[in-house]
Amino acid sequence: MTGDMMIGVAESGGTEQSAIRRVAVIGAGVMGSEIAQACAAGGVDVVLLDADAAALDRGLAHVASIGARRVARGRMGEDEAQAISARVTPATDDAALGDCDLAVEAVPEVMDIKRQVFRRLDAALPPDALLATNTSGLSVSGMAAETRRPGQVVGLHFFNPASVMRLVEVIRGEATSDATMAAAEAFVTSLGKVSVQVRECPGFLVNRVLVRALAAAYVRAAELGADMAAADAATVAAGPAPMGPFALGDLIGLDTLGHIQRDLREAYGDRFDDGGEIAQRVDAGRLGAKSGAGFHDGRAPEAEPDDAGREVAARYYERALDEARRCIDEGVVAAPGDVDLAMRYGCGWSEGLLAWDRAREAGGG
Ligand code: 3HC
Repeated sequence: MTGDMMIGVAESGGTEQSAIRRVAVIGAGVMGSEIAQACAAGGVDVVLLDADAAALDRGLAHVASIGARRVARGRMGEDEAQAISARVTPATDDAALGDCDLAVEAVPEVMDIKRQVFRRLDAALPPDALLATNTSGLSVSGMAAETRRPGQVVGLHFFNPASVMRLVEVIRGEATSDATMAAAEAFVTSLGKVSVQVRECPGFLVNRVLVRALAAAYVRAAELGADMAAADAATVAAGPAPMGPFALGDLIGLDTLGHIQRDLREAYGDRFDDGGEIAQRVDAGRLGAKSGAGFHDGRAPEAEPDDAGREVAARYYERALDEARRCIDEGVVAAPGDVDLAMRYGCGWSEGLLAWDRAREAGGG
């Protein structure tokens, strides 16, 4: 589905019927447990599978902590929070996959590990079950090739934090059937989330747009010696993004971001160069929020925009627009409106990228 049609579905949230009632989430790291929470909150039974029992305990605790936080903020009743937690069953053995309709893998971004997981899933899931990867940009078709059911393999790319962000990119691999795409989209909608269909390419849609902008902002800031907090503030002030490039890098995790940036540079060339700004921090053990420090020490400090920051912000949006237009030209999305949906629901932008640019042009900004 595309453009305005999707907005209608998106705003109604969680009403569409899906045949998928029981989902396995593979990998109980932060992303896996966030996805498990999102599925359980959408009313689906979840098997959270991880060979590491301690990781499972942490994953379940993470699901419970999201509920506790929402209860404390008065946004959810105690009963509902408990019901969501109760829908997530931990498992260490593949035998637990035997009655699942869908498996979503969220294991580390290493193709060999993903291939191995897909072989295991293919062996353990019922013949009609769907297999999905939450990869942030690796080949869905490559994973599908490990199975005897490549037509039933699809990419379901959630966004950080997945319990909050509503977008799921639905990625069609070379062999993905129309029926699988339709079932995957119906599932996403049944969770109250928004699906955007994306053609397979390195980085898909959102990571291409976002990582291109982030890398460019890091280079520009280093050239200018810009203050990172002021550049973050300038980015928020200048356009629809809810947080600036340095705060967002810390949220995503600089190790994760570094992997994506290197993969995209390899795929598309120097326009994805960040000048080594990410690797430098990763080498120093500064991985972002998960390690307590990244670009910023701890939480991003409050700051006012300054001139150098405004230049960084201008570069950020300019590069995001350029990459979005390339994605449209290459047919990565079915309609330009999908770019706007994706940035709003995947990255929390107050307005779509293209709509914002049109309004800016019309206003002479
Ligand atoms: N980590 C996890 N959850 C966080 C968070 C963080 N750093 N910061 C806030 N949250 C949660 C809050 O706990 C709250 O959750 P709740 O709805 O369950 O109570 C919810 O987000 C809203 O929080 P607040 O009202 O306090 O804060 P904001 O209104 O400022 O929103 C935000 C915070 C949702 C993080 C918002 O700033 C945002 O949308 N930022 C952009 C995030 C983004 O771009 N994500 C995509 C990254 S790219 C990606 O994931 C792809 C992958 O492949 C790398």
